[in-house]
Amino acid sequence: MKNIARTHGFEALEVEGEIPHALKGTLFRTGPGVFERFGKKVHHPFEADGVVSAVRFGADGAQGAARVVESKGYREEEQAGRFLYNTSAGLVDYLRSNMSGETKTTGNTATFYWQDRLFALMEGGKPQEMDPQTLDTLDHVDLGGVIKGAFSAHPHYVSALDTYFNFGLRYGRKMEVDLYALPTKGAARHLGSFEAPWATMVHDFGATDKHLVFVFAPARLVVWRALTRIGGMSKLFRWDPRMGCQIVRVPLDDPERIERFELDAFWLWHTVNAFETEAGTVLDLCTYPRLEMDFLTVHREEAPKPRLERLILSGDRAERERLWDVACEFPIVPDALQGQEYDRSFFHLQRDGNFELGAYTLSSGRERSWPCPDGHEPSEAIFVPYADEPLRGWLLSLVADAEQSRSYLAILDTERLEDGPVAKVWFDHQIPTTFHGCWVPDQAAAVAMPAAAQ
Ligand SMILES: [Fe+2]
Repeated sequence: MKNIARTHGFEALEVEGEIPHALKGTLFRTGPGVFERFGKKVHHPFEADGVVSAVRFGADGAQGAARVVESKGYREEEQAGRFLYNTSAGLVDYLRSNMSGETKTTGNTATFYWQDRLFALMEGGKPQEMDPQTLDTLDHVDLGGVIKGAFSAHPHYVSALDTYFNFGLRYGRKMEVDLYALPTKGAARHLGSFEAPWATMVHDFGATDKHLVFVFAPARLVVWRALTRIGGMSKLFRWDPRMGCQIVRVPLDDPERIERFELDAFWLWHTVNAFETEAGTVLDLCTYPRLEMDFLTVHREEAPKPRLERLILSGDRAERERLWDVACEFPIVPDALQGQEYDRSFFHLQRDGNFELGAYTLSSGRERSWPCPDGHEPSEAIFVPYADEPLRGWLLSLVADAEQSRSYLAILDTERLEDGPVAKVWFDHQIPTTFHGCWVPDQAAAVAMPAAAQ
């Protein structure tokens, strides 16, 4: 993994094809972008400082920007001339940061736009605010004292409540899970907290209009490794399938009254969607047979592949069923159906060793996809609805073309995925792998969109 070659504010991008006239707004994305500093490589890409990139479609055409997340911890390290945080730090610095409880918010996992503010998120730190106009790094925030410890990288929007929900993990003698509600209007709230069954990593969760759902997989934190950083991040968690998974369901109307369910062992990074049915609470997700820390960055043939599965929590039982047999990750469901029953979702696919951007419709089993050209690696695709149709629109995926060392934003029509991009918008350099992003429509364009689709 190489450092981003060049960072810059908004500048004109080269456009190939025709950008849909109605596509007005900004795509923000983030990912690990600084893999080597002070002559030393980071131990694991998850620990690399983030680079937030943006592509803006407005009156001045297509403009792009990319900036390093220069967090407080990043600036301290620049001043010291060495790593002070994460397992890349020397032992003394690592112990000091561990004992102080200070973390570095790398902002390398997701962007989140809430109440006209842009945040770069990672699961172990507080939200890192960024200036959406310049991508300059502002302060990390606790949203008025609401964020107790960390604020994870997967806030989920529930359209029926017009509210984002999120969580944060607090490691200690026991691992606590803090729960947050962020309505689109009004103040953020701490909903409560509960004790996890064991100390582990939880990357994502599900949210409906009645419940939050968490999966605790049997990847146990190895405490002595966490205390000494020996083995680096790759060995921080030990997979113990005999323990199985514990599923926790939190009622939104009484967050103290959690329910626990048991299932056989599996791993997940990402959930697709969650919703309530007469049969119980449904959580769709991309599952793996075991924890694979390298999956997101090393696409090895023998690596376990994720599959679309469904958990149903009914009565006091949890059931799990396979929905689709294609390797799929980075799921996206239109905002209008988040937290509700849905039919079609979009994915980053791997088929026969090749990458595709695709859609899968549950009711019909219909698959549509664009197989990316050889050597082109797509990111997660962000769904942007047409102005008047919240369930159809465009997919935006930042694609790295390794041969040219350049990245382009591919714009695909969700109804004609197999035709390939209707337009490509090129940076003159390569943006390192990005994990997650968000689309922020222009205010003028937003007015024309149904409220549920924004
Ligand atoms: Fe993620």
